[in-house]
Amino acid sequence: MKITTKVFQFIICGTDTDVGKTLISSFFVRGLNCFYWKPIQSGIQGETDSEYVQRVSQISPKKILKEAYVFNEPVSPHWAAEIDNVKLIKSNLNLPNIEKNLLVETAGGLMVPLTRDFLQIDQIKIWNLPVILVCRSSLGTLNHTLLSIEALKKRKINILGLIINGKKHLDNPQTLKLFSGLPIIAEFPLIKNLSVNNLDFLWKDLNMEEKLAQILNK
Ligand SMILES: Nc1ncnc2c1ncn2[C@@H]1O[C@H](COP(=O)(O)OP(=O)(O)O)[C@@H](O)[C@H]1O
Ligand SMILES: [Mg+2]
Repeated sequence: MKITTKVFQFIICGTDTDVGKTLISSFFVRGLNCFYWKPIQSGIQGETDSEYVQRVSQISPKKILKEAYVFNEPVSPHWAAEIDNVKLIKSNLNLPNIEKNLLVETAGGLMVPLTRDFLQIDQIKIWNLPVILVCRSSLGTLNHTLLSIEALKKRKINILGLIINGKKHLDNPQTLKLFSGLPIIAEFPLIKNLSVNNLDFLWKDLNMEEKLAQILNK
């Protein structure tokens, strides 16, 4: 089955910081050969998320869109902006005006503040794109993931499904599926050596085209 949606634009969000949003974004960017946008980057020590995605996916740099905000400190965006003396203007977060396949990676978890009166999840609602929620495979994920799903559902945000990231867990996937009613798009394994070959292998092995087609062509 092929993905028949003409233009596929979606959001990669997560249950927390460090759950694997950027790695999973690299996986999708490479698999779909789509544009990538990280609107708000907090912290510039080491690599930014945009640099990571470009390096790991080996996508054309033209497909990495410029961030709206890059803050120096690796803290919540609302505070990072204050430390840098920058006022975040919501209209700067408007989606790029491109009729192309696009992945948007959010900052931190859903309830992270972007300003003192505006949360990441409020901006997701405004974008009005479907989301894929990345969650940990390990202990603690049931609570974090089900809470995140409840918050998304309460705001009527379209959730395409979950990516469960990390060491395979014997029970969490079926329990998340049971309580959320959402598809598990993939259980993404721990990777020792991050390479495009590994990503390409996993794209096929996890049957990603077929899974996405099933969800999108519904
Ligand atoms: N499945 C995985 N296998 C190996 N390393 C992983 C995996 N998922 C995440 N990581 C590593 O964990 C760190 C945090 O992941 P990242 O994608 O940056 O999280 P987030 O974007 O949610 O903050 C990165 O160094 C990333 O390479
Ligand atoms: Mg990230």
